[in-house]
Amino acid sequence: MDGSRILSQATAHAVAFLKGLAHRDVGATARAGELRDSLERSLPELGTRAEQVLDELVHDVEGGIVASTGPRFFGWVMGGALPVALAADWLTSTWDQNAAVYATSPAEALIEEVTGGWLKELLGLPPQASFAFVTGCQMAHTTALAAARHRLLSDRDWNVETKGQAGAPPLRILTSEDRHASINRAVRLLGLGTDAIEPLSCDEKGRIQLAALEDALQKSPSRPTVLCLQAGELNTGAYDRFRQACTIAHAARAWVHVDGAFGLWAAASEKYRHLTDGVELADSWAADGHKWLNVPYDSGFVFVADPAAHQAVFAEQTGHASPTASGAQDTRNQMDWNPEWSRRGRAVPVYAAIRTLGRSGIAEIVERNCAHATRLVNEIGNLPGAEILAEPIINQGLVRFRAANSDHDGDHDAHTDRVIARIQSDGVAWFGPVTWCGKRAMRISLSNWRTTDADIDLTVASIKAALAHCDWVQGSPPGF
Ligand SMILES: Cc1ncc(COP(=O)(O)O)c(C=O)c1O
Repeated sequence: MDGSRILSQATAHAVAFLKGLAHRDVGATARAGELRDSLERSLPELGTRAEQVLDELVHDVEGGIVASTGPRFFGWVMGGALPVALAADWLTSTWDQNAAVYATSPAEALIEEVTGGWLKELLGLPPQASFAFVTGCQMAHTTALAAARHRLLSDRDWNVETKGQAGAPPLRILTSEDRHASINRAVRLLGLGTDAIEPLSCDEKGRIQLAALEDALQKSPSRPTVLCLQAGELNTGAYDRFRQACTIAHAARAWVHVDGAFGLWAAASEKYRHLTDGVELADSWAADGHKWLNVPYDSGFVFVADPAAHQAVFAEQTGHASPTASGAQDTRNQMDWNPEWSRRGRAVPVYAAIRTLGRSGIAEIVERNCAHATRLVNEIGNLPGAEILAEPIINQGLVRFRAANSDHDGDHDAHTDRVIARIQSDGVAWFGPVTWCGKRAMRISLSNWRTTDADIDLTVASIKAALAHCDWVQGSPPGF
C-alpha cells in the first residue's frame, strides 16, 4: 500500500534508461504508426496490475523516446535533467503539494521565496523584482506582457483588469524581426493581436538597430508601447544592447521586456556576463530552468521590476491573498503572481539544482557548453563542403552544407537537408534544420550538462561520415 514495490520498479526503469542514454539512438526510431499500434488499446473496463502497466508502458514507448536529455542532442535549445533535479522532481510528485498558496504548502511557498531570490542574484536582476515559477518561457512572456499591459494602460487611466481591452488605447509591441515565436503567441493569447507587433530591423549581429527603435518611438510617441529585447537569439545567440535600448525606450515611457530563455544564464558566468550589461534596467524578464539550468520540464521564470503591476494581473481582491490560516503575515501566496491556481511545486528541482551546483557549477556548465559549441561549429566548418553561417556568441551556431558542383542556393538547401537527415538517421547525434536569412542551415545548440569532449569527437566523426555518404549519393532525394 505504501507503493514501495512500484516505486522501486520505476527507479529500476529510470536507472536503466539513464545508464543507456549515451549509447542509444539520439532520435526516435519508431514511426507514429508503430507507436500508435503499441500504445492504442480500447478503454479498459477492468484494471490491470500496476507493475504490468509500468513494464508495458516502458516497453511500448521505447522507439518514441528522444534522447534529448542525453549528451549529443543539439536541436532547438534543450537541457538535460541533472540527477539531483530529477530526484527533487520525484519528491515534488511524492509530496504532491498544491503550490497555490502558503496555506496549502508552507514548504513550497518558502522554497519559491528562497529560490526566487537566488535566481535574481544569479541572473543579475534587481532584488526588488517580483517573480513567478511558470511552465516555461512562453508563460513567462505572457505573464510579463500582462503586467506591462496593466502598467501602460493604468498610467492612461484605463484599468484593463476590470474594463477589458475593448476601447482601451491600443498597445504596440516593438520587437526584433528575429524574435522567438513565443512572443507572438503571448501577444495573441492576451488579445493584443499580432497586428500590434512592429518588427524592428537588426544589424549583422542580430541586435535591434537602435536608430530603428528611435524612429519607431518618435513616429507614435503617445502610443503605449512594449519593447521586447533578446538575451540570446535562437540561431545566433545574439544579445541586444540593453543599456542603450532601455534608456531610449524609457525616455518614451515604454516598458522593456527581455526574452532571456537561455541567454540570461550568461550572467552566471564571469566570462560571459558582459553580454547582459544593462539588462537589469529592463521592466520584465523571462528565462527558463529547463534549458541551461538543466532541471526537468516544466520550469520557467518571470521577473517583474514593478511588483504592483505584476500582482494587479493575478491577485484576487476577495480574500485568499489575506493572511492564511497559519496567521503568517509575511508570507507569499504564489497564485498572486502566477497564471495557474492549483499547481505542482515546480521550484523544488530548481532549489536542488542551484544548491548542488552553486554559482560556480552553473558557470562551469555555461562555459563548457559555449566552448563545445565553438569547437563543434569550427570543426564542422573545416569539413569539405561545410560552411559556417553563424559562429557562436555563446552556445548557438549555424552551419550549412554546400552541394558539390553547384552555385545554386536551392541545391545547397537540399543538400543541407539531406546531410541533416543522414546525421539524424545515424543516431549518434541530433541536429535540426532551420531557414536563416533565406538559407537552409543546421542549428547547433548546446545546453546540456552531460556533453563532454568525447561527445564532440563522436559527433564530428558522425557528421564526417554523413557528409561522405551524402556526397556519394548526391542527387538522390532525402529519405534513404
Ligand atoms: C529564445 C527563446 N525564447 C522563448 C522560448 C520558449 O520557451 P519555452 O519553450 O520554455 O516556453 C524559447 C524556446 O526554445 C527560446 O529559445
